[in-house]
Amino acid sequence: MKKILIQYFSGTGNSLYVCENISEYFSSKNYSVKIECIVNEAVSYCIEDVECFGIVFPVYALDMPRIIRKHLKLLKPQQKISAFAIATMGAPDEEGWSLENAVKLLQKKNFDVKWTEAVVMPINWVAFSDPPEMTEAEQIILKSKASIMGIIKSIAENRISRKHFVMPRYGRLNSVMMYYGFKFGCKYLWKGFKTTDNCILCGKCINLCPVNAIQLKKKKIIWTDKCEQCMRCMNICPERAIIQYDVIGKGSKKNRYIFPEFIPEKIQKYEKSTY
Ligand SMILES: Cc1cc2nc3c(=O)[nH]c(=O)nc-3n(C[C@H](O)[C@H](O)[C@H](O)COP(=O)(O)O)c2cc1C
Ligand code: SF4
Ligand code: SF4
Repeated sequence: MKKILIQYFSGTGNSLYVCENISEYFSSKNYSVKIECIVNEAVSYCIEDVECFGIVFPVYALDMPRIIRKHLKLLKPQQKISAFAIATMGAPDEEGWSLENAVKLLQKKNFDVKWTEAVVMPINWVAFSDPPEMTEAEQIILKSKASIMGIIKSIAENRISRKHFVMPRYGRLNSVMMYYGFKFGCKYLWKGFKTTDNCILCGKCINLCPVNAIQLKKKKIIWTDKCEQCMRCMNICPERAIIQYDVIGKGSKKNRYIFPEFIPEKIQKYEKSTY
């Protein structure tokens, strides 16, 4: 039986949704498919015994998340294995350099990267923009099926298909500034998180942060430099009590977005267990 291993990182569930679609399709064709969350300690650094390897992640400021970069650098060099990289993003053609960079890192580890795709999903970057209302989000998710099925078919037919780089709509200068600004700023952005008076100290943000970057100290919610900026805490807080660098004071009023079926139990099933 052919084996596929998919490793992913996901703040709000979009990227996991893509993994599950791939898994569902190939499982129905009698492949053995394993999904591993990159924050899961059981994650493989040496990928053996699989015919196909995939990495799925959200785009962060036109690049891949820091945790994905670190992970790909830690992977051991492989025998030549066919591979795919899929980025999920909040707007068309805004994957920036994320896929190119992922491909370079995978190729360094000897993967044969045959397939790449960028899938438009609802934007979750609350601090920078306003996520869509749920009805609009559901429409976006529905439309994403076409590109997800596109890459699934290419993999199934072993037909090479790689997404070409497109300059994001901000233009070269702004895009480069955003790319480097986030790359270097990422390790400080946790300092911009705050809770408002609406916080009821329910502990949900602490329990559900994928990298354990949030703590409770002296009855206050505190962020630490482990933060990957995934926006799960901001989006999942039931009181909309988390804001980040909220200069104009609109943070609490903005929409919040979590993939509809990305319930806490499911997150924990994927992240806290080996399977
Ligand atoms: C810090 C941050 C930066 C982001 N930067 C971009 C971007 O440059 N381009 C884009 O299209 N979407 C961007 N997004 C939106 C996410 O890539 C998108 O919503 C993604 O599908 C979220 O996936 P997830 O639910 O698996 O975390 C950003 C989101 C965050 C949190
Ligand atoms: S999830 Fe929201 S309300 Fe609950 S502790 Fe965190 S900030 Fe406070
Ligand atoms: S602190 Fe919030 S934004 Fe940072 S990694 Fe944890 S859940 Fe994501």
